Amino acid sequence: MSTTEQRVAVVTGAARGIGAATAVRLAAEGRAVAVIDLDESACKDTVEKITASGGQALAVGADVSDEAQVEAAVARVVEELGAPTILVNNAGVLRDNLLFKMSVSDWDTVMNVHLRGSFLMTRACQKYMVDAGFGRIVNLSSSSALGNRGQVNYSAAKAGLQGFTKTLAKELGKFGITANAVAPGFIATEMTKATAERVGMGFEDFKAAAATQIPVQRVGEPEDVANAIAFFTGDAAGFVSGQVLYVAGGPLN
Ligand SMILES: NC(=O)c1ccc[n+]([C@@H]2O[C@H](COP(=O)([O-])OP(=O)(O)OC[C@H]3O[C@@H](n4cnc5c(N)ncnc54)[C@H](O)[C@@H]3O)[C@@H](O)[C@H]2O)c1
Repeated sequence: MSTTEQRVAVVTGAARGIGAATAVRLAAEGRAVAVIDLDESACKDTVEKITASGGQALAVGADVSDEAQVEAAVARVVEELGAPTILVNNAGVLRDNLLFKMSVSDWDTVMNVHLRGSFLMTRACQKYMVDAGFGRIVNLSSSSALGNRGQVNYSAAKAGLQGFTKTLAKELGKFGITANAVAPGFIATEMTKATAERVGMGFEDFKAAAATQIPVQRVGEPEDVANAIAFFTGDAAGFVSGQVLYVAGGPLN
């Protein structure tokens, strides 16, 4: 079976960055794509990019950490695109700080978007995958899961998503559903641009400095991650489950 079978895919945080590139890539694979982000109007660019190339996409506004909004968003996807059998939990935020300066609110925000959000979205979508006897779940982890100064909240959430992924793989495998995690290193997006601003560096200098530490000597682009996600969501990846793939231009220590 080819990877081009029409299936409905949901990508969260898809208004920009890795999520937008993933939505566009999955649409190019023939998927009808629900582009979910906090603000429906912010999803317009991604949806237009997909429809301009002859694909099918739907913009949906939802906060993935809000149970009622997630239920409503998935119901709308089912109604307007069809039952989702591919889910990419990509929505994410940073609230970096050293432990002694980190507020409870910055801890909770990061846990809520990454962990609660992935849990709520996966719980809402899994029944359609079980009914179809087919499903592909990809969670966005990070190289920060291995530990990163100033990111005690984010690294805990991203490591948590690896455990979440492996447990999903074990629980859902018998229904034809796979779950994998993609763990990017440095990818050039608004997220890393904001980090550059926070540390007082120009984005180009920040990227150049990061590139010197990466074996392939460049930072990643959103499409580098989208390519890995396209593999995991393909029909041909049915025997690959519970894995964490670092997309980081080299191995990590
Ligand atoms: N950029 C990197 O270097 C990098 C590295 C490793 C992992 N990641 C992860 O990849 C994912 C995408 O990152 P990015 O760099 O494209 O970030 P980004 O900030 O460019 O995009 C994230 C998107 O998620 C959306 N979002 C945030 N909170 C949301 C919520 N509660 N509900 C719905 N949408 C929400 C934002 O509005 C935004 O459109 C994140 O999970 C991030 O942690 C990024």
